[in-house]
Amino acid sequence: MKSLYLNYRFLYLLLSYPLISCEPEPIEVCNTDQQSLYQRYDFPVGVAIEPPHTTEPIVQTQFNSITPSNRFKPEFIHPQEKTFYWHHADLLVDYALANEKRLHAHTLIWHEQLPIWMENFQGSKSDWEAMMKHHISTIVKRYKGKVQAWDVINEAFLEDGTLRPNIWLKNIGSSYIEKAFQYAHEADPEALLFYNDFNLSFRPTKRKAVLDLMTNLKLRGVPIHGIGMQSHISTIFPSDQDFISTMEKITQAGFKLHISELDISVNSISKEKFELTDEMLQRQAQRYRFIFNNYQRIEKQYQHGITIWGVSDGESWIPNYFGREDYPLLFDEFFNPKPAYCGLIK
Ligand code: G3I
Repeated sequence: MKSLYLNYRFLYLLLSYPLISCEPEPIEVCNTDQQSLYQRYDFPVGVAIEPPHTTEPIVQTQFNSITPSNRFKPEFIHPQEKTFYWHHADLLVDYALANEKRLHAHTLIWHEQLPIWMENFQGSKSDWEAMMKHHISTIVKRYKGKVQAWDVINEAFLEDGTLRPNIWLKNIGSSYIEKAFQYAHEADPEALLFYNDFNLSFRPTKRKAVLDLMTNLKLRGVPIHGIGMQSHISTIFPSDQDFISTMEKITQAGFKLHISELDISVNSISKEKFELTDEMLQRQAQRYRFIFNNYQRIEKQYQHGITIWGVSDGESWIPNYFGREDYPLLFDEFFNPKPAYCGLIK
């Protein structure tokens, strides 16, 4: 995934050059006192968090939906075949319940962050199905009625629209996708179930493959309620038009749309140190507003909400993962609001 991001970031900087020269509209500085981001919008406004954030006032006052960035992933919640580790997941679920936040959990089935035992599991196709069912059912049943939505399958497609050759595809075959949704639905029939993936707004072949499969499964009665459009984007890429048309394609196909994993990079290619300028922050603010304003316009029945992928710039996954400086979130490393936040609350 890393190399794809890098290749594309270089390409889109070139393609998007004309956009760089337009002056963004200035946004004044603001504070978070007596203001709440989620109260400003009539759809859920979420944030990805780790357990320490349960004492962070910004999470409490500004967001009404939370997503655990890591603690529901298999390596954390199911570290050994016969052992589930509930402590951190329980803490996040209890926090959500006590503070009336929706919990959108992430993620049951993925190819990354797997425990070693799961990667090395040996058995027949039916053994693999039983193992996957046990994993999904145990977790979803524990939080039945407490977790409102699940990313059931994460990133099952490659960029060329073929299925990713992960352990699930190799050992179960392509039916692992519909089975995972069925197992989750059996465990909690009220929960909303999502397919979540990245680059859908600028990889038309991948987007079509995702939408074709999900539509087909839905027509066959598989319980899939929504699609998560991961939005690890930048101030200049993808184009506004591509972003909006992808939102439209997902909702026109009858799926709830989750703008999941939203962060907006101000430095999508350079590994050099650079000075963060007001202009970069204003452009970022403008892009956040563009996305929230357009999301606001979609039909209510399709709005699942927008989830920002992290609270403060100091904790974003991007610098660590790509080895570059960046400031993609709404709050700076000291949890002070940036123009991006102020533009959204305006
Ligand atoms: O928990 C260990 C800790 O024990 C250890 O001391 C520490 C040392 O680095 O690492 C900790 O694990 C880290 C984990 O996050 C929890 O903090 C991993 O190194 C780190 O690689 C991992 O990164 C996560 C990444 O997924 C893994 O691919 C990011 O926090 C998380 O934001 C990111 O989220 C993904 C979505 O799930 C799917 N879409 C892409 C998105 C960004 O990669």
